[in-house]
Amino acid sequence: MRTLHTVIVTLTCQLALCSQIFPRVENSWSDASIKASEFVANLTLTEKIGIVSGGYLSPAPACVGSIGPISRLNFSGLCFSDGPSGYARSDGVSVFPSGITIAATWDRDLAYQRGVALGEEFRAKGSHVYLGPSTGAMGRHARGGRNWEGFGPDPYLAGVITNTSVLGVQSTGVQACTKHLAGNEQETQRTSTTDSNGTVTEAISSNIDDRTLHELYLWPFANAVKAGTSSIMCSYNRLNGNYTCANSDLLTTFLKDELAFPGYVTSDWYATHGTEDFANAGLDMEQPGNVSSLAGPSYFGGLLLDAINNGSVSEDRLNDMAERVMTPYFLLGQDQDFPSVDPSAGAVFLTYQYGQNSPLAAYYPAVEARDVRGDHASLIRKIGAAGTVLLKNVNNTLPLKNVSNIGIFGNGAGYPIDGSVFLDYGDHPEGFEYGTLDIGGGSGTVRHTNLVTPLQAVQSHVASIGGRTQVILNNDVLAEGLFKTIYPVPQACLVFLKAYATEGSDRSSIDLPWNSTAAVEKTAAMCSNTIVVIHGPGVVLMPWADNENVTAILSAHYPGEEIGNSLVDVLWGAAEPSGRLPYTIPRNLSDYGPDIVESPAEDSTWQADFNEGQLIDYRHFDADNVDPHFEFGFGLSYTSFEMVDGLQVNVNENVSALADESMGTQPGGLVDLWTLVAQAAVEITNTGTITGIAVPQLYISFPQDTTPAGTPVKVLRGFTKVALDAGETTTINFELTRRDLSFWDSDTKQWVIPQGEFVFMAGFSSRDIKSTIQTAMLS
Ligand code: BGC
Repeated sequence: MRTLHTVIVTLTCQLALCSQIFPRVENSWSDASIKASEFVANLTLTEKIGIVSGGYLSPAPACVGSIGPISRLNFSGLCFSDGPSGYARSDGVSVFPSGITIAATWDRDLAYQRGVALGEEFRAKGSHVYLGPSTGAMGRHARGGRNWEGFGPDPYLAGVITNTSVLGVQSTGVQACTKHLAGNEQETQRTSTTDSNGTVTEAISSNIDDRTLHELYLWPFANAVKAGTSSIMCSYNRLNGNYTCANSDLLTTFLKDELAFPGYVTSDWYATHGTEDFANAGLDMEQPGNVSSLAGPSYFGGLLLDAINNGSVSEDRLNDMAERVMTPYFLLGQDQDFPSVDPSAGAVFLTYQYGQNSPLAAYYPAVEARDVRGDHASLIRKIGAAGTVLLKNVNNTLPLKNVSNIGIFGNGAGYPIDGSVFLDYGDHPEGFEYGTLDIGGGSGTVRHTNLVTPLQAVQSHVASIGGRTQVILNNDVLAEGLFKTIYPVPQACLVFLKAYATEGSDRSSIDLPWNSTAAVEKTAAMCSNTIVVIHGPGVVLMPWADNENVTAILSAHYPGEEIGNSLVDVLWGAAEPSGRLPYTIPRNLSDYGPDIVESPAEDSTWQADFNEGQLIDYRHFDADNVDPHFEFGFGLSYTSFEMVDGLQVNVNENVSALADESMGTQPGGLVDLWTLVAQAAVEITNTGTITGIAVPQLYISFPQDTTPAGTPVKVLRGFTKVALDAGETTTINFELTRRDLSFWDSDTKQWVIPQGEFVFMAGFSSRDIKSTIQTAMLS
């Protein structure tokens, strides 16, 4: 009964109500840490080892990782589940918009609401830890296989969305495990491999300088810690020669000392390759451990016990590890009324692995899944539209008006004919040819309980307005250009294209596959009103974008299970496609910047030298004067906006170059780094005839002569998403913290606000600056 009650409360939990039911994070870290140390003080040595080593939690394998129970202390164990776009390997769950989609909304509120909804589903399934959000990979490489799971290559935007995601998830009493720290920018040789002779090749080493780490790759993780993330997952790769999970510079100096992170670091799955080097560097938990025949070797468990017994890991360190693991559990009240694990996930997981004839079926029989979706479909539908970017809209083609004969074309429109689960680690690097694509592959994929395809949604909408549709789903047939089955030529031809990306491999190219270019060009030759809709993981090339018969282009990312409905809303104007690009679209792959390392160096080791420093994505296009096809921050609206050239900036009095250390530290680092030191304001007006949504953005240039070489031309430091009625004017305010205006001085190891004039720039994209003003921070 208790569990049922909790599930009902969880499913009906609205934002305001949630924060009453579940304790807020910021008040109670110290109380929770006292409870955790009292708890750990009562444990035997073996129990402490159990708290930090992946273990067995009945019913395995319903959770992708577990910490086993200690019944004599009423501790029922911890269940870890993927993450990050829904409750993976399960039934009765929602497929949420992926990370890149929520980043493309540029909407803090929606990111928070998505986090709450995700947390509600995890909690109701009985999972204590949501393995997300992901903010690494960031997207150094356009071809990166996991870019879609995260929030894109700009640290400020990624930091804001990471922060709100963590707050949302944890408001439901579920732990967030922010991942993958750090530099896991490519899948190729992401982890160590062993050949048939037993020769081990170590993982790629991402070689990144201290300043670039702080200002780019670690930046969003600081936001996660500030938001109170319970856990951080160290990644598979090496960082500057050392595995991240054994990297004391990263885990101890940066995360625990500099950011004052009070939670625990767990390894990525099988990313622990040793015992004392890992534990002493700052790794607090190994996952998944060696709990069943499904698992690989374990370096904690018995080996950690040996290390404690022989003194190579101290018992103090073990106590610290166990206390860190238990602190978030008490912080979020998981010791009270947390739902039991839904046993159905075990059978679903094994069906994934072995099909219907699972050898373990007798142990994990199929049971009906707990349906935890509530009304999340409406939020998913809304985010899908809000994360769709309108890249072209000639003569206001969209929203569609007075069209009743619609062509539905392309291999991305219909139901996935191979089944709707993409738990695929690279066997099909281009994905499956037929079917819509609302999420990527790998551990971050989510099994569909429901999926509304574009074909289904467009057909039912067109029927409801008395129109008709003509359908061709085979791109090769489109590419022939004969269109023998089409009569009369549709008034609007929708061409659905898709690009797949998955954990475990990088994309072979950023072209849209499956004969897409010819399919668009031939459709456009027949149909003067061709509208291209792309579902993809991020950067894709659009060589046909200037074709005059391609009248509109929508980049809809991976929007989740309501993919068809979100699109209908956008096409017929029930919602605006109000997304903005969270990355830059180049004209060619070579324009984008450093490519994936595909082979080892001469000494046979895998090395990725991040020599471009911070200059990735738009920072590279700016610094190297490369012309983007569609720039970072860009996206059209169904109306038009103007920004008055009157940007104002107010700087607080007596801003000092360095943070005031006497204000202390909190999770997130020095308190003073988060103090607001400047505000900017600018006016915008909706100059069109309908209500519309704008995303005004603030960029800054640091003084070039008082900052080290490698400082970007400009960086994003503010944005707002705002709806305005036709003719309405409003003032947009941006608030800047000390960290926003500092660079990381790697000599003195501190954040510094430099002397000299900063340039503040407000506009509608990284290349559409409307108002500029110069001012110094230090008097
Ligand atoms: C992935 C993680 C994931 C874990 C558990 C790993 O392969 O890198 O992101 O959380 O598996 O499935």
